[in-house]
Amino acid sequence: MDAAEKNKHESDMPAGKTVVVVGPGSMGLLWGLLLQKGGNDVTFIDYRPGRARRFMENGITLVRGKKKESFSVKVVMPDFPFGRIDYLLVAVKSYATEKALESLKPRLASESTVISLQNGIGHIDPLLEIAGSPRLVLGATSVGANCPEEGTVVHAGDGATLLGALSESGARRVPDAVVLLENTGFDVRADDKIKARLWEKLMVNAVINPLTALHDVPNKKVGKDKNLRSLALEILDEALKVARYEGIDMDFESMKEKVFSVARETGDNISSMLQDVRAGRRTEIEAINGAIVRIAGKHRIPCPANEKILAEILDLTRPKATEDVQR
Ligand code: PAF
Repeated sequence: MDAAEKNKHESDMPAGKTVVVVGPGSMGLLWGLLLQKGGNDVTFIDYRPGRARRFMENGITLVRGKKKESFSVKVVMPDFPFGRIDYLLVAVKSYATEKALESLKPRLASESTVISLQNGIGHIDPLLEIAGSPRLVLGATSVGANCPEEGTVVHAGDGATLLGALSESGARRVPDAVVLLENTGFDVRADDKIKARLWEKLMVNAVINPLTALHDVPNKKVGKDKNLRSLALEILDEALKVARYEGIDMDFESMKEKVFSVARETGDNISSMLQDVRAGRRTEIEAINGAIVRIAGKHRIPCPANEKILAEILDLTRPKATEDVQR
């Protein structure tokens, strides 16, 4: 980038935006810390007072490769009396969207933009209800992160983050949301078919997340292990048939390529579902494979591979899982 371009880019940047991150899990922390580093005023919302206090007292460490960086953070409870909110970044589990945002709804101004970086499709309706389509920007991210211990977040994989809206008025918010998020250094792009992208992401998660969680392996194994590869193709084939009934037409070969390339690119990452299983937390299986099975039921499409993996993950976690709703 030459100097003139750099100046133009910098003058385009929404420096000093007020960003509220809902859900200080690995995804929320990673994006929030990098937005803070980029000069934005970032506040995290946690619903657990003890953890919020520890984050405030001890700060958060961000690990990127061999580099470790410490950040002081502002963490508040959901009932905190916020001033202006330019951006509300939603990084809670899909199933927790309504509950996490209910107390924030009255604090959103008409200029506030809600950006979701969530897995699944179950969050779309609650977000439309809470934010309304003119304020809503939906994201599908392949960036990987995990929290090996409280107070530490590891940036574990790169990948594109796509942003788009469901209405024309929402689409007008997308370019600024892209500028805001690309200020983190990640590859962030506008996409005018975000619903299809979310379905694509759903396919990726429907294959990689439960298989890695069930077999306790990093993402790369899904493409490398013969048995996991064949289960992956069964899950994907069913999911694509279901998507077609919802008006989302995706080609099997290109989706197969996509799923295995994400597994490769995020190879050493521990998927969010495996992280949940290891930590004894409730997983997003109902919002991912559960959503596919529910829609399949509506259209009377057989979905045995997704039903089986849904039941297996529920069996694995149900007796002991606790709720911890951030991504
Ligand atoms: O949920 C996750 O872990 C991520 O979406 C992905 C892309 C599968 C990488 O780990």
